[in-house]
Amino acid sequence: MGRRIGVLNYKGGTGKTTTVVNLGAALALRGARVLCIDLDAQGSLATCFGVSYKFSLSQLLLGQVGPRECVVQARDNLDLIPSDSTLIQAEGAMWRLNDNRQARQMLLRNTRGLDRMYDYVLLDFSPSASIVSECGLRYAQELIVPVRTSYLALVGTRQVVETLKHVGRVPGHHVRLYLTLPTFYSRRQRKDREVLAILRRHFTHRVAHPVRASVKLTEAPSHRQTIYEYSPRSSGASDYARLAERILRDG
Ligand SMILES: Nc1ncnc2c1ncn2[C@@H]1O[C@H](COP(=O)(O)OP(=O)(O)OP(=O)(O)O)[C@@H](O)[C@H]1O
Ligand SMILES: [Mg+2]
Repeated sequence: MGRRIGVLNYKGGTGKTTTVVNLGAALALRGARVLCIDLDAQGSLATCFGVSYKFSLSQLLLGQVGPRECVVQARDNLDLIPSDSTLIQAEGAMWRLNDNRQARQMLLRNTRGLDRMYDYVLLDFSPSASIVSECGLRYAQELIVPVRTSYLALVGTRQVVETLKHVGRVPGHHVRLYLTLPTFYSRRQRKDREVLAILRRHFTHRVAHPVRASVKLTEAPSHRQTIYEYSPRSSGASDYARLAERILRDG
């Protein structure tokens, strides 16, 4: 049975999608079978991988298609359940269901058996707490939370750290915070180094090695490429490879 890992932070632009794409690619290149699920109506994953598709997560959540029908192959060893703006309507339909608890179980229920085909299922959360996010939290077993070191330096770490400690808590359910992942890290910035030290003090071994700020990571999606295709020698490629190694080591 695959590990189901959510990549979540309700703050926008912290590197969630970039992490799912490039961590997914790094794991797949090491021979792991990976499924990425896009929980965001912005639909960035299909764009980043440059894949076209017939069915998306919306139809799956509403039970209109089976899980295998909306899985598309993005790369060798790497499959995707894409999303797009139809997710907003699907969400509306889920809200209207009489049984709200049932709506929140829909991802778990409608993908039953699918995780047996993969070593890792990576969920790309949207930056808002929605019913689809709740579905994701009930599906995920553990979370990777990308945090932007420069942003933390700006707003102060205390509140963010407290938020992080509770990020996986939903009523009747608890998801384990597996790793915080410092992103956009710049070692030359004293503030970034300080923030990293604070994170390590609070979360000890649950702080992953940082992903450095890298223009190549920003450019790769417009070429519909992962960092291993676009710039395999870049810092982004080695940082996500390092994260993949850690995940493989942890099981
Ligand atoms: N380490 C990095 N260095 C430089 N740019 C990065 C890095 N990580 C991500 N980016 C860029 O920053 C922007 C935001 O990243 P991304 O889309 O991955 O964040 P997100 O958390 O998924 O955003 P949202 O909350 O909107 O879903 C993108 O343009 C991306 O290419
Ligand atoms: Mg995103």
